[in-house]
Amino acid sequence: MRYHLTTFGCQMNEHDSERIKGLLESKGWSEGASRDDADLILFNTCTIRGSADQRFLGNLGDAKRVKRERPDVVVAVGGCWAQSQREQVFSEFPFVDIAFGPAEIARLGELVARERLEAVGAFSFDGAFSGGLPSKRERAHQAWVQISTGCNCVCAYCIVPSVRGRERSRPAGDVIEEVARLASDGVREVTLLGQNVNSYGRDTAREERWTFAELLRRAAGVDGIERVRYTSPHPKDMRADVIAAMAEEPAVCEHLHLPAQSGSTRVLKAMRRTYSRERYLELVDRLRAAIPDLSLTTDLIVGFPGETDAEFAETLSLIERCQYDGAYTFLYSPRPGTEAADRLEDDVPAEVKRERIAALVEEVQRVASQRATRFVGSTREVLVEGPSRTDPTRMRGRLRQNITVNFAGDAEPGDLVDVEIDSATSTTLAGRLAPAAVAA
Ligand code: SAH
Ligand code: SF4
Ligand code: F3S
Repeated sequence: MRYHLTTFGCQMNEHDSERIKGLLESKGWSEGASRDDADLILFNTCTIRGSADQRFLGNLGDAKRVKRERPDVVVAVGGCWAQSQREQVFSEFPFVDIAFGPAEIARLGELVARERLEAVGAFSFDGAFSGGLPSKRERAHQAWVQISTGCNCVCAYCIVPSVRGRERSRPAGDVIEEVARLASDGVREVTLLGQNVNSYGRDTAREERWTFAELLRRAAGVDGIERVRYTSPHPKDMRADVIAAMAEEPAVCEHLHLPAQSGSTRVLKAMRRTYSRERYLELVDRLRAAIPDLSLTTDLIVGFPGETDAEFAETLSLIERCQYDGAYTFLYSPRPGTEAADRLEDDVPAEVKRERIAALVEEVQRVASQRATRFVGSTREVLVEGPSRTDPTRMRGRLRQNITVNFAGDAEPGDLVDVEIDSATSTTLAGRLAPAAVAA
């Protein structure tokens, strides 16, 4: 029995897909090379923007073709799009056999079994965290660890709270236990995952509450874990104790993805981000003062309802001011059911949005290329991930700053090596393995 899984969306979905694969493989399924080769066609979907829906629906069309050719194939659709559509999935796409939301991964085994009339044992699962499920990790030495699910923010543009539900923190003991288990399994780098990681713990009873900063320190203290990252934090919850943990814990990496969304206080307010341009900039200054050589990345949206040229210019100026090492830039996309889609007119013309995003991307690349040159001529610690994607005679790995390095020299995935950096582009660095230090 073979399955084929296509994953869309964020790291949360990537991680959920590792669990889906682990679950299926623990029940005797193996991964097929293509949909034509599979008995079970699965999708783990995203619905963050209209373009995510479109990309998925194109792929779903292909599954429909396979189902027409081989009616006994099972088509299963999971994740955020499935959750947002609920029962409509079956009326609009009658060839879909199974739909499941992000909190129902454990039930998938059961659902598939019912569909295929096989007897399988069910997993015990508390409905929200997939931490107890088997997992098939894509990378041997790096792992994601889910620390919370859902989101209590009310960002006016965002569909996530309605598809992932209220925020729930995973018990701290379970998180640390998983980190320790991963470490004993050879993992050297973990990324703590949640929609709003730094509000971790606020939904937990006071006696047993750990703050995000405490969790970060404890994860960083696990034997064998050399690097700890986390994503995504919300600027409003970026407290002094978290900055201190980043500055003081050697394992916590000098990289922070700090979504700004806009550089205009008026737009931020309409987005309900709960911070102003000034507060964001102050935070960036505090981070830079505490963590030398911090690499900062962000998410930015252009064309939010009512965004003027002057307001967009404030977003553009954020790039130089914050000295980002990279940024994801998005065209505002109205999502039905969100405050912005229901109450505000999507009034920035498509061509203006496109002009704005082009200018933003250019500025992001300009600043990132300039920033990357700071590494040239220095020797940096690299966690080796595998062969270079463009030149298999070279190796690929990442700096603590999360920047990819391609380099010459012998190294194995999972090694921490020193690399002399000799050139840079806006997205990658190149270099060679530093000669091993010779004992005097
Ligand atoms: N919880 C995370 C990620 C949310 S989704 C966080 O808050 O950082 C990832 C990014 O998609 C967001 O940061 C935002 O920049 C973008 N995004 C979300 N909804 C969007 C929409 N309706 N249109 C355009 N971009 C959107
Ligand atoms: Fe969406 Fe805002 Fe929550 Fe991020 S913090 S998931 S942008 S509602
Ligand atoms: Fe998409 Fe859901 Fe992630 S909507 S961005 S897969 S939380």
